[in-house]
Amino acid sequence: MKEKLMALQEQALAELKKTKTLDALQDLKVKYLGKKGPLTEILRGMGSLPAEERPKVGQIVNEVKGVLSQTMEDVSAILSREALKAKMASEKVDITMPGRTHLKGHLHPVTLTMREIKKIFMRMGFEVIEGPEIENDYYNFEALNLPKDHPARDMQDTFYITDEYLLRTQTSPIQARTMQSREPNSPIRMIAPGTVYRNDYDATHSPMFHQVEGLVLGEDVSLADLKGTLETFCKEMFGESVEIRLRPSYFPFTEPSAEIDISCVICGGKGCRVCKNSGWLEILGSGEVHPHVLEMSGYDPKRVKGYAFGMGVERIAMLKYGIDDLRLFFENDLRFIRQFK
Ligand code: DAH
Repeated sequence: MKEKLMALQEQALAELKKTKTLDALQDLKVKYLGKKGPLTEILRGMGSLPAEERPKVGQIVNEVKGVLSQTMEDVSAILSREALKAKMASEKVDITMPGRTHLKGHLHPVTLTMREIKKIFMRMGFEVIEGPEIENDYYNFEALNLPKDHPARDMQDTFYITDEYLLRTQTSPIQARTMQSREPNSPIRMIAPGTVYRNDYDATHSPMFHQVEGLVLGEDVSLADLKGTLETFCKEMFGESVEIRLRPSYFPFTEPSAEIDISCVICGGKGCRVCKNSGWLEILGSGEVHPHVLEMSGYDPKRVKGYAFGMGVERIAMLKYGIDDLRLFFENDLRFIRQFK
């Protein structure tokens, strides 16, 4: 009997060794330790054995059972671990793969330029003031020394809402609005950025565009201050090597008036297509504030004087970034816009 049990144990161990899956292991458990298995059968047949043999056989059967159970547990642990490993391998994610990024927007070149202009003047102590885009005839023209029959109005045709209200053609009306909101004759040092409108449309004009106005008033503000301030602005905006020149001009609200040119940023002043071989680029209008303009808004030209200036933001952006058609700014072609990321 003992030999029979030992042979049984050997056979079972050999089969267990070859087991590859948990299912197959379960089958072996049933086969050797189950109710219909050989060990149960031997225990059941103990009745037919002589009484003194029974405890011995019982002991050996239990030993064999013990060896087989332990081995099955060990094999089960190994197979479970392998199964888990295989499952993990099949679910593996390649974390080295680049992910999908969110589409992120960015600022428009006109906004970028506007912000830079504002930053430069704010560093020089200017406050930033805004005004309405729907303006009345008085602030847009009359308060700036452009009475109803003034010929200079012809250059600034715009969209009229009524005879009285219009889309402002310039940011200059904020000069009068600011003076009138202050204690008369008190000093002012402000810029006014904003959107303006005109009945124009070609490669350098759009019916909607942007300007930054400037106004500096005080008891001893001179033309030298105008030149120094705007020279500093131009150098900060276009680079230290840029030079400026003041060219006599005419605006109804300044006297004297000057157009400010910078040395051409493309050719450095030698002459090229962009500066039309002159070596200079027109960049902004300026002048000493006309006494009548001061008077109309409650300032006394005998006590206070100063200067004003105005510039087109798109024009500055075009020169800064080398863009030759202003309409590109507003056509929303992403191939153009994305270059300013
Ligand atoms: N408002 C003028 C324009 O749109 C620009 C300008 C010129 C503004 C001279 C000023 C200035 O304040 O002094 O053409």
